[in-house]
Amino acid sequence: MKAETIGTVVCTENGPSTENVSFVIGKRNDTPSDKQVPIHVGQYVSMETEEGTVFAHVEQVYKTNRYFSQIDAVHEFTRSGKAFNAIFPIDRWEYVLAEAKPLGIFENGHVRRITYPPSPGTQVKAPDTKVLGEFLGFTKDGVHLGQLLFHNIPATFNLTKMYQKHVALLAMSGAGKSYAASVMLEELLARKSSQGRPALLVIDVHGEYTGLAESRGAKGKSFEDQITVIQSPLVEIATPRMSAKAFATYAPDMGTIQVRELTRVIRTLRSTRKGQPYDIGDLITALEQDPSINVRTRDALLGWLDNLQSLRLFGKTPTPDWSKLMKPGQAVILDMSETVSLQKKQIIVDAVLRYLFDLRRDGTIPPTIVFLEEAHQFCPQARRTLAFSKGVLETVAREGRKYNLSLCIISQRPVRLSTTVLSQCGTNIFLRITNPYDLDHIRATSEKITKATLTSISSLTVGEALVVGQATRFPVFMQVRTRLTKETGFGIDFETAAKKFDDKRQSK
Ligand SMILES: Nc1ncnc2c1ncn2[C@@H]1O[C@H](COP(=O)(O)OP(=O)(O)OP(=O)(O)O)[C@@H](O)[C@H]1O
Ligand SMILES: [Mg+2]
Repeated sequence: MKAETIGTVVCTENGPSTENVSFVIGKRNDTPSDKQVPIHVGQYVSMETEEGTVFAHVEQVYKTNRYFSQIDAVHEFTRSGKAFNAIFPIDRWEYVLAEAKPLGIFENGHVRRITYPPSPGTQVKAPDTKVLGEFLGFTKDGVHLGQLLFHNIPATFNLTKMYQKHVALLAMSGAGKSYAASVMLEELLARKSSQGRPALLVIDVHGEYTGLAESRGAKGKSFEDQITVIQSPLVEIATPRMSAKAFATYAPDMGTIQVRELTRVIRTLRSTRKGQPYDIGDLITALEQDPSINVRTRDALLGWLDNLQSLRLFGKTPTPDWSKLMKPGQAVILDMSETVSLQKKQIIVDAVLRYLFDLRRDGTIPPTIVFLEEAHQFCPQARRTLAFSKGVLETVAREGRKYNLSLCIISQRPVRLSTTVLSQCGTNIFLRITNPYDLDHIRATSEKITKATLTSISSLTVGEALVVGQATRFPVFMQVRTRLTKETGFGIDFETAAKKFDDKRQSK
């Protein structure tokens, strides 16, 4: 197929160089009144140079017309009331100039750096779609999240590249984070055994992922057989797996002496129980009956343990049995919508992740991806906002890669997220973000983001995403594909909800 010519490289003050190439849009005999938009910011182009085929990314598009650059003349003509185009052939003098950033040269599946600029006069073409997909790093068998914007290419990412080093899915509220995460889950659940299937855990703070398991009629897809929904009130943490240090995570005022004494009491309890499980009540009894403990230490410890007992979280064995639930090609949705206390949610996340980390380390469960909604609540940056789950999330962020335990961090407040966690995310997926503080924070934590890209993040529309990092060779703009499964009914708008409420009241 012959590549379509888009324009011609021209000389400007700072180009063509290896960093910047400008080209004027238009073929020979082109009529400038063509209604079709010939080029978009965000589009890819290619050109032949001495070094090979160079791919470039369009970053700015300008329009100019010399008839309109003389301000006083324009003003004078406007006042005279004559139509401009009756006197001058203004249409013929309008032209479009595009500025593109050369990305690299693609040859035999490898990308090389550009060391020599294209010549002025070089033809700029629309790249071959197949080659462009390979150049950007898309793979055939990968995770198909949507379509590359302005090009007819499926955005399909390599599983390892995308998840091995964690993913951050960041955007303002309502931009489509949960929707994009659901698309990811659909892709991961649809994988065949021969493609490698991870186990999945969704920490679903608002209970919005259960739709994945609901059927949507003939056309809609359901992954019912592959999903287990666990309601958070059912979760129990195994007390025998808790060391004194682990208890101290949930009672940060606990001092070293108290930790030491609790360690001793736990050790004694374990040896008398001879492998039989015990719950927090048993531990409290053991503490009360301990003959050698200092009274003040005991009372302080009892205070903390009583508090934890009142959460009704600490049982004898891990419930549900995560070691059996986490299976290849299966997802567990941990629906936390019934748990109100943030501290309780944090304790659940902390304990479950600690357990999964251990299970993953000894190879009991398959490689796992954990989706964490509202991540800023579980690993906040600020020191004063204490979060029980921050430590384990930072550990998984740092070390999870070695054990194939991966995170997909979802948040609408990147600025409040732990930078340790955020900087460990190899792939960032941004949907629309407009808050300047969030944008600054993103710029500071991700070196791959240029100023032009950052500006584009604020102009994305719902469902449009920018993918940056390990998963692609270069930042790509894409449209997230339509879901195959049902959306859980959160989307009822304000007006409808108000009407519904009124109707219900009147019918009473
Ligand atoms: N790719 C898409 N295609 C079609 N509709 C979409 C897409 N992405 C999002 N939407 C729609 O936009 C709305 C908001 O999406 P979503 O709930 O995913 O936002 P969110 O970023 O998770 O918001 P919040 O921060 O409040 O949780 C939904 O009603 C959804 O249907
Ligand atoms: Mg959401």
